[in-house]
Amino acid sequence: MKHEPTPVALGDVAQTLMIPLWSRAIETERPGGLLVDRKAQEIVASLDFDFEARFAAHRRLAFRACLRTVMIDRWVLEFLDRHPEGTVVEIGTGLNTRFERVDNGRLRWFDVDLPDAVALRRTFFTDGPRRTLIEGAFGHEGWLDALPSSGPILFVAEAVLVYLDETTVRRGLELLGRRFSGWPIVFDTVAPRSFAERRMMGTRDAAFVWGCDDPRVIEGWGGHRLLDSVTLHDIPADLRRRLPLRQRLAHPWLRLTRPQRLRAHALNRLALGATPDQA
Ligand SMILES: C[S@@+](CC[C@H](N)C(=O)[O-])C[C@H]1O[C@@H](n2cnc3c(N)ncnc32)[C@H](O)[C@@H]1O
Repeated sequence: MKHEPTPVALGDVAQTLMIPLWSRAIETERPGGLLVDRKAQEIVASLDFDFEARFAAHRRLAFRACLRTVMIDRWVLEFLDRHPEGTVVEIGTGLNTRFERVDNGRLRWFDVDLPDAVALRRTFFTDGPRRTLIEGAFGHEGWLDALPSSGPILFVAEAVLVYLDETTVRRGLELLGRRFSGWPIVFDTVAPRSFAERRMMGTRDAAFVWGCDDPRVIEGWGGHRLLDSVTLHDIPADLRRRLPLRQRLAHPWLRLTRPQRLRAHALNRLALGATPDQA
């Protein structure tokens, strides 16, 4: 039986959630790809949204968003190794499926997003005893009351902060740092010089706003400490082997000739607030 497509009513920024969703669905089709995400494929097939018209020109770059996702998954898994019953808070979750990939049967999980994204997410994901979806905005405080009052806790904001202005990013980190000092947040940053060439992720309507050349500057914002920062310049060897052939061959050449380009997009792990690292 053919089902009616699920209508999409999203604002410009929330609509950016379609990019990583589509990238995971496309990457699932690639033999030996970076991840397998059947749920993303199902969602893409059921939404009333013309993915081909919007993103087909970027098909061969879909692996990039997945690389970011898989590298962040690794940090989440490392945290769960140390804190199997810890809490993970996925900020700006969109239609992300990280819970499905990393759940160890013991963790506590919160997904957070703006109201329009939450409404769409509810048509595909249901809450459970260890998993809760809440409305909330990074940079605002109210939703933090829904979280446990103390750690172990890990925050993740994948492809989110770049759409906010610097004041909101600072405020969001400060609010988390006040309540969860010493616990980590994982997020990506993009250097302003590469905004133009990342039009796909910026999309037509929601441009990148916050650019960051060097994530170490964030340490000067209120005692946070940068624990790790990696870029596409330093892709772990096992993941490099799973890139599309063309990218795998180009990577050594790009490292030599365009290192700044590969370093333009960083994945960061930051200990929040002034308490010594508890990550
Ligand atoms: C590019 S999507 C990324 C979705 C998801 N993190 C992923 O990787 O699949 C950006 C997401 O950030 C959300 N978002 C934008 N501003 C936000 C804010 N201030 N607080 C929380 N989420 C926000 C959007 O609604 C959207 O779901």
